[in-house]
Amino acid sequence: DDSFDEDCDYLFKAVLIGDSAVGKSNLLSRFAKNEFRLDSKPTIGVEFAYRNIKVGDKLIKAQIWDTAGQERFRAITSSYYRGALGALLVYDITRQNTFENVKKWLAELRQFGKPDMVVVLVGNKSDLGQKSREVSEEEGRNVAEKEGLCFMETSALENLNVEDAFLHMITKIH
Ligand code: GTP
Ligand code: MG
Repeated sequence: DDSFDEDCDYLFKAVLIGDSAVGKSNLLSRFAKNEFRLDSKPTIGVEFAYRNIKVGDKLIKAQIWDTAGQERFRAITSSYYRGALGALLVYDITRQNTFENVKKWLAELRQFGKPDMVVVLVGNKSDLGQKSREVSEEEGRNVAEKEGLCFMETSALENLNVEDAFLHMITKIH
């Protein structure tokens, strides 16, 4: 709300990226509103949500941007990344191709993002791990290590590690 804007110590922007249907919008709605939708529609253009967080004695207002994984629904890339201090790069542990595309997203991130951005690689849908996992946790961790990223597996559905993934990014920035 407005009164918070005047009181907060920092306002910062972070972005969500990754292939379509990996769960970006549900990770954000889980983090910002504690909501999850099994029947969510693909994002068109750009949406964003806020959450106020206390880190130590500082009040931080995090503005998280979410866009379409599908190229044809995406807005202008350079403005999406402009001013972003952090990113969650999301893939789906049940779809190998979304993990292979992490390289593509990293290239875009490095082209348009700030060089010192805090990036967390997120393997989402860990709740489906037993039944339909295609990417091991070790593979995810290895790529993150090689690329100098933080790493976490999450489930937006079961609310596992979602808070941790966002808070990790936010607290590393400040
Ligand atoms: P785009 O907007 O097209 O880029 O997709 P997105 O990455 O925002 O995916 P979205 O959040 O819309 O989720 C896609 C589908 O995956 C939906 O049916 C969600 O319910 C489902 N989903 C998201 N997160 C999880 C999860 O952690 N576990 C399971 N089982 N399903 C999930
Ligand atoms: Mg979406």
